Amino acid sequence: MSKPLIAVLNGPNLNLLGTREPEIYGHQTLQDVESELRARAVHHGFELDFQQSNHEGRLVDLIQEARGQAAGLIINPAAYTHTSVAILDALSAYEGKVVEVHLSNIHKREPFRHHSYVSRRADGVVAGLGTFGYLAALDYLAGLLKRP
Ligand code: DQA
Repeated sequence: MSKPLIAVLNGPNLNLLGTREPEIYGHQTLQDVESELRARAVHHGFELDFQQSNHEGRLVDLIQEARGQAAGLIINPAAYTHTSVAILDALSAYEGKVVEVHLSNIHKREPFRHHSYVSRRADGVVAGLGTFGYLAALDYLAGLLKRP
């Protein structure tokens, strides 16, 4: 039997993690996050598809590809969190569980970061826990998907 697939999607500028405003986003790179998540996915018996794109349409395509494929989706839409109805609509057409992750606590920052379009669809939101937020999201999905 094949393992359940978890898709992890990262939005614009997250490819610069580790060097981008480290006082806000920390020193770990996106590759560090991917490695940690892969290890945790193996532990839970999941397959992991980890992607990053700076382009809104590409993120929409990846969400559409997750339909019927991924049992759960972890997404840090980055700046598109606050602007993208297209990403919200794509997520609304996806049938699995969705966890929205932000490294920083968006509610503590500039007012334009306080609203998330994606949160209307997310089953859970993690913000302000740094890269640990991704692991917390994966553990949450594992708990749900392992339940009989
Ligand atoms: C972010 C928060 C967003 O407001 C910002 O545009 C990002 C990253 C976070 O992970 O804290 O690029 O999603």
